[in-house]
Amino acid sequence: MGEPLTAQCISPAFEMVGGLAGGAEVLDVACGPGALSVAAAELGARVTAVDVSEDMVARAAQRLARHPSCTATVMDAQVLEFGDATFDAAFSMFGVINLPDWGGALREMVRVTRPGGHGCISSWTDPRTVASVGLLVEAMAEVFPERETIPRPAGVLLAAEPDALREGLEGAGFRDVTVRAVQVVWEVPSVEGFLAELDQFYGFMPPYLGLTADERDRLTPALRAAAYRRAGSDGKLRATTTAHLAAGRV
Ligand SMILES: C[S@@+](CC[C@H](N)C(=O)[O-])C[C@H]1O[C@@H](n2cnc3c(N)ncnc32)[C@H](O)[C@@H]1O
Repeated sequence: MGEPLTAQCISPAFEMVGGLAGGAEVLDVACGPGALSVAAAELGARVTAVDVSEDMVARAAQRLARHPSCTATVMDAQVLEFGDATFDAAFSMFGVINLPDWGGALREMVRVTRPGGHGCISSWTDPRTVASVGLLVEAMAEVFPERETIPRPAGVLLAAEPDALREGLEGAGFRDVTVRAVQVVWEVPSVEGFLAELDQFYGFMPPYLGLTADERDRLTPALRAAAYRRAGSDGKLRATTTAHLAAGRV
C-alpha cells in the first residue's frame, strides 16, 4: 500500500546525494519491502538493506536476489551492526524519523557513512493527509470525533518544518544539509472501486481495525463523502501529499 507513494521520492533522494555511482556501497535503513534498495541495485550499487521486520526483510531479500552483491538483514536502525565509515551513502525513507530515538538513529547513519559520503531521509509533512489515510482521518473525525486516529511521532512533527529538519540532521553530524519538498500523488481509478475495497485499504490500520462491523457501516457514508470531495472530473480519486526530503554530507 505504501510503496507506490514512497517510491515517488526515490529519484529525488538519489539526486539530492549527487547520484549513485556504480559499485557505490549503499545502506537502506528501515528498507520496508525494498523499493529504494532495488532502485539503487539497478543503478549498480552494492546495497545493504536493513529493517526490524522479518517479513519486510524477506520481501526485500527476494527482490534483491538477482543482484548478488546486495543483501537484506534484520536489524534495528538505532543500533546498526556495521563498522564506522562503511558506506558511501545511507538512506532512510520514511524510516528513522518515526523512531522514538530518531536523533540516535540519524547519528548511527552518520557513523556508518564514510567521510565525504552522504545521507538522506524523508518524512511526510503530515502523515494524517497521506493518500487513503487522509480520507479515514476526515471520516473518523466526523463520525467518531473522540477517537485518536494517526499518532505523529516527535521526529515527524519536527520534520514538518524544513528548518527544524535541517537542524536535526546538522545536530546528528551531517553538513551542507539541504531540504526539498516533493509532491506525492495517490490515484485510484474510481471512487466506487475504492469504496468496494475498504477492507483492503484500511484492514491493517489500527483505527479501522478497532471498529465493529456496525461502526464500519456508520463510517462508510463519511468515507464516501470524503472520497467524492477528492474525485476529479475524470472520476478518478486523487490526493496529493507533500514529503520533506533532507540530505547532507558526512
Ligand atoms: C513507513 S515504512 C518505510 C519503508 C520504506 N523505507 C519505504 O520508503 O517504502 C517504515 C519501516 O520502518 C521499519 N522499522 C520500524 N522500526 C524500525 C527499527 N527500529 N529499525 C529498523 N526498521 C524499523 C518498519 O518495519 C517499516 O518497514
